[in-house]
Amino acid sequence: MAKSDLDAFKYDQSEEVIDTSKVVRIGIIGTGWIAGTHLVEYLKMPDVKVVAGADLIPGKAEKFFAENGVEGAKCYPSHKELIDSGEVDAVSICTYNSTHAECAIYALEHGVDVLLEKPMCVTLDEAVEICKAEKKSGRILSIGFQPRFDNNMKMVKQIVQSGVLGNIYYIQTGGGRRHGIPTPFGTTFIEKDKGAIGALGDIGCYSLDMVLNAIGYPKPLTVSGYTSDFFGRDPEYFEADGKPAEYANIFGVDDFGAAFVRLEGGIILDFRIAWAMHLDTPGDTIIMGTKGSLRIPSTECWNGSIGGALKLYQRIAGKDVVTEFPVLPPVDKGCFYHKIRSFVDAVKNGGEAPIPSKEIIINQAIIDAINKSSKLGQEVKVEIPEI
Ligand SMILES: NC(=O)c1ccc[n+]([C@@H]2O[C@H](COP(=O)([O-])OP(=O)(O)OC[C@H]3O[C@@H](n4cnc5c(N)ncnc54)[C@H](O)[C@@H]3O)[C@@H](O)[C@H]2O)c1
Repeated sequence: MAKSDLDAFKYDQSEEVIDTSKVVRIGIIGTGWIAGTHLVEYLKMPDVKVVAGADLIPGKAEKFFAENGVEGAKCYPSHKELIDSGEVDAVSICTYNSTHAECAIYALEHGVDVLLEKPMCVTLDEAVEICKAEKKSGRILSIGFQPRFDNNMKMVKQIVQSGVLGNIYYIQTGGGRRHGIPTPFGTTFIEKDKGAIGALGDIGCYSLDMVLNAIGYPKPLTVSGYTSDFFGRDPEYFEADGKPAEYANIFGVDDFGAAFVRLEGGIILDFRIAWAMHLDTPGDTIIMGTKGSLRIPSTECWNGSIGGALKLYQRIAGKDVVTEFPVLPPVDKGCFYHKIRSFVDAVKNGGEAPIPSKEIIINQAIIDAINKSSKLGQEVKVEIPEI
């Protein structure tokens, strides 16, 4: 493929113009690991002032701001006091998964716009309650899927949406790590009452979003799911990493998930995701259609990266043809910047949220159904109520 053809897939990186006449007052709820990336990006924006932070752990928010050189931000002991202060226009919710729903609902009910970290929450019931609060409030709710802003993820969507694949009937997606149960600063990812869902919610949600966003988020109909925790329950796994063996005792989430999902439109989604496995990858992502198929070399997706050139397989004039789409460079300023910037723009200008809940509720419904099906040991129907 000629370079000029590939340039057509490059994201417009023209200089943005920021109107500084209106300043958005931001609060950060949960001042742990990911909150740092939110803060770094907000601090680059001349039309944003980070005015407050909240954390359940005493002194953590104060330390967070001090370490990042932020002066004058007020600190609160939980999301409630921060929102009740009335000092913020919008919040980043960077808490562990189990408190996403209560924080998001409280913010929306109090007229505050919300950027909610992924996964949206833990269960479909919670997602429904969040969407109801969003609808009632009329506020902005965007979910933190930064890969959407990456050049490569945009290219995947553009190719699929062009119709070149014909009718899509089968998708395989997922991925994972050989040895990557996340315990960088503690155990909030692996505790049942905090992380609540493991690999499924941490990285599985990205793999699902990559393909479901590309095909327009059709509704799931049924799910046959499986989850396991063989690595997380093994003390030797953590000891080998120089971590406490008792992490295995507090491990209360999945470290592997797999599912067979029937989607509206006669599409089958075959999915697997791992935090740990004795394998390099459980496979590339493939999207198969009646006119062509697309291969996306295995990727964890969290930063939008893909594991190699995309390959489009077609039959043209009786010949089997493969077209390669080389990996595009990362988006200018990085996808985390654009996740935050697009949210701030929506807060200032109104309109639809950049990563809307009406799509991500479907992602959450699949994760929820995988967990339910795994517990029951049988296929489950998925019904997403009208909001
Ligand atoms: N987008 C990404 O690339 C990315 C990367 C890492 C984590 N995450 C997501 O971010 C979220 C947080 O992950 P983390 O690693 O930063 O966790 P963390 O445990 O480091 O930080 C979460 C903090 O939230 C606080 N908290 C919980 N409930 C609260 C409440 N009601 N009010 C105030 N503070 C509260 C906790 O005390 C904790 O300090 C998770 O949902 C995770 O999936 C996203």
